[in-house]
Formats: sequence, C-alpha cells, structure tokens
Amino acid sequence: MQPNLQDQSCDLMLFGAQGDLSMRKLFPALYYLFKAGLLHTDSRLVGVARGDDSQEAFIESVKQTLIRFVPEEDFELSLWQGFSRHLHYLKVDFSQPSDFSRIADFVDQSNRIMVNYLATSPSFYGDICKHLSEANALAPSARIILEKPIGHDLESSIEINNIVSQYFSEDRIYRIDHYLGKETVQNLLVLRFANHLIGSQWNLNFIDHVQITVAETVGIEGRWGYYDQVGQMRDMVQSHLLQLLCLVAMDPPNQLSADGIRDEKLKVLRALRPLAPEQIAKQAVRGQYSAGALNGQTCPGYDEEEGSQGKSNTETFVALRANIDNWRWAGVPFYLRTGKRMPTKMTEIVIYYKNQPHYIFDPKQKEVVNNKLIIRLQPDESIQLQVVTKEPSLENGISLQAQELNLDFSDHSKNRRIPSAYERLLLEAMRGNQSLFVRRDEIEASWAWCDTLIQAWSECHDSVRSYSAGTWGPIGSIALIERDGRSWHE
Ligand code: BG6
Repeated sequence: MQPNLQDQSCDLMLFGAQGDLSMRKLFPALYYLFKAGLLHTDSRLVGVARGDDSQEAFIESVKQTLIRFVPEEDFELSLWQGFSRHLHYLKVDFSQPSDFSRIADFVDQSNRIMVNYLATSPSFYGDICKHLSEANALAPSARIILEKPIGHDLESSIEINNIVSQYFSEDRIYRIDHYLGKETVQNLLVLRFANHLIGSQWNLNFIDHVQITVAETVGIEGRWGYYDQVGQMRDMVQSHLLQLLCLVAMDPPNQLSADGIRDEKLKVLRALRPLAPEQIAKQAVRGQYSAGALNGQTCPGYDEEEGSQGKSNTETFVALRANIDNWRWAGVPFYLRTGKRMPTKMTEIVIYYKNQPHYIFDPKQKEVVNNKLIIRLQPDESIQLQVVTKEPSLENGISLQAQELNLDFSDHSKNRRIPSAYERLLLEAMRGNQSLFVRRDEIEASWAWCDTLIQAWSECHDSVRSYSAGTWGPIGSIALIERDGRSWHE
C-alpha cells in the first residue's frame, strides 16, 4: 500500500515557480491534486523564484494561470480559496548563497516531507543543491525532482548526476520523464503483465515488429536558440521514445517496485545494438521542416522561425530502426519516428503480429490478414486490437474484413477525467514512490546509445533532409521501413 498523502504534510519547494512549466503544468496539476483531496491540509506549496513579487502578487499570478489553463467547469472559486491557502512565495536568487537562508528559516525539517522541484535550467542544479545544503535547508530525507534534460550527452549527464549525488542519495532523486506519468503508459504495464493472453505472446515468436511514433504539430515554440543546440534526437528520442521502447520491450519485473521496474528497463537499454557509422544511412534518417501548411495555416520553415540564426543542420525529425540483442527480441525491429510540424499530434505504439503459418482464404485478400495492437497515448487514450473477421454476407463465399476491438479510455470513463502526467508524477514524488522516475544508470545508458548515433552522423557529415511542414517527414523515412518490406502505420 502506498502511503496516503493526506496522512503526511509536505513542503513542496518549487524552484522556477514563475517559469512556463510551473505556470502551464505544475500549478494546474497541484490544483487538481487538491481538488481530489490528495494534499494534506497542512501541506505547503512554496514558489521559489527570483522575482520581486509579494506573496499576494504571486498568489494572484497562480490564480490567473489556473483560470487560463484549467477548464472552466473545473475551476471553482471556493476550491481556489482553499487551494490558495497552501501557496507561499520565497524570493531567492539561485546564484546568491545568502538567499537560501530564507528557505532554511521557512522549512520545518523535523516532521515534514520536503520535496524540492527544480523546474529550472539544468545549469542551476549544482548551485541550488550546494546552496540548499550549505544553508542547512536540507533534512536528511529531503527529496529532489529534476526536469529533463539531464545533460546533452553522456559526459555532461554524468557531470550533473555527480554534482547532485553529492547532496542527495539516489533513493531521494526523482528524474522526470513526463511520458512515464501518462495514464496509458502505465496501462501498458498492466496490459502486458496482468493479461496472460497478451503477455504470453509478447516475444519474437509472435511479434513481427514494433513501431513507436511521437508526432507533434508544434514547431519550436519560440525556443529556437535552445532547440538548435539540441535537436529532436536529444530532445525526444533520448528520453521519451527510449522510455516507451523500454516499457514495451522489458521483461516482467518480479515485483512492482521502483527498482524492479528500473532494473528491467536498464537491461533493455544495455541490449540496444549500437548503430555503427556504416549502417547509419540505412538505419536512421534526420529531417528538418521547411515552410508548409498545417490545418489550413501556412507555417514557416525551421530556418525562418522566430529567433532563427539562419541555416542550420539541426534535425526536427528522426526515424530509425533499433534492434534489441536479447532472447526475447532477436530479429524483431523497433522502428521509432518523431518529428515537429507533423500533420497531427499523435503518440502511438503499434505491435505488428506475425501472420498464421499457412493461409487458406482467398489469395486476393491476404493483405487484410494482419493482427495489430495499437496503443494510443495521445490525443485520445485507447487500446485497439485489430482482428480479422468474416464479412456478414451470403455472397462472395468467405470474405475477410479487419475490425477493431476498441478500449477507448476517454469514452469508458466518462465521468472520470484522465489525470495529467504531472499530477501523477507530483503525487508519486510526494509519496516517495520512484517507479515512474528515471534512475541514473538508465539516463546514462540511453545517452551512451544516442551518443554513438549522434557521433556517427557528425563523422559522416550527414545533412538533414528537408520535409514540408504538415507532412510525415522526409521520403527517406518511408524508404527506411519499406526497404524491410514494411510500412508506417497510418
Ligand atoms: C518535451 C520536449 O519533453 O516534450 C518538447 O522538450 C516536446 O520539445 C514535449 O514538445 C512533448 O510533450 P507532450 O506531452 O506534449 O507530447
């Protein structure tokens, strides 16, 4: 049983409380936790930032953000008044050690849980940890939540992890990958490990290949300067796509503990076959969007986005074929694809099953026979199993049709809203459950694999292929999968 948060009071220190992430995602998530009765009446939600705001001005800015980002039917004034009593503000300049004494004076380390959420640039992580510690603001049980990115390659991630580990032991570090907080991602574990029908056929004997697509319609959203140093491989593949791949490919843990799950994910990352430079051209494709149209609106090319410094070789799209060298997945390719300015926002995992060993129906209908399990994370959360049935008719002998067994979560739980990823993650961090957070060795293993590919691209002077905004990426991405006699799920 997980501890009930209502039994424990908690000080959540939100560093970077005036930033975009806090305002858009974290305060709305905290409001919903309060609404669901999941915050102890004595818990304090403390905004820590360098702005000169008074406590009242800060509380008013949180109110305005909730009015903006929480749907009207969920925002109730009486609830807001209760919620606002939990809010506090501390003005702290992260580079000023003396400012941290304000935090030490504020927190009561004796009988409260202290959770420090660093919703700041990683360049502040070291200073914040050091100053908190030197100001005696950290109880031995204090926890820390770190947002991605943890570094931009293996070396820099080790550096950040080393600094943070001087002040927090691994069992108190919560590294966020917000995809792990998404409801259907957790459902994937249940689907695989609570259903013998599915679990027993989850291997190379039954599965032909797996596709994971994370498509976004947005472009760079005003952060060209940052994104141009990073690109889609570091921003999305290293974190979200590899985490999804781990959850699909991992062996069953012997129990649902944080380390039970993370040990199995780590084994997958370590079994990923490094992409050698001579295979790169056939196994991975980088793209960059040019001007185009999306939902009837014209979109600028990447080079013309606000803040652009002109021509750049940074990728906004990646497609690749990964292989996992172990007994469960030998010979089963995992195709990953992610990009900005795609025709629709959509995240899905598609499991393609192998066909029956011998086909006895109309040869012209062979194409219809194709079992697929489609796990959709966004925009609608659903799981569909594509099966083949007979078309009801007296004519045409036995005519085959593909039909879907559909579990639509947004539909089935009509009166129960699906909690956002950040609600789940904030709740679990306050509860002290690390299952949905990424362990140090996982981050480092995924960087090690990505670094090999990024390095190979750089060594062979690979240039990005252009694709028009509003399309599914460069032609090379289609060629990548079609070369293997397969095609992307539409
Ligand atoms: C973030 C990336 O981690 O995830 C962004 O830095 C990306 O570039 C975002 O847009 C996508 O998240 P979601 O939940 O909207 O799919």
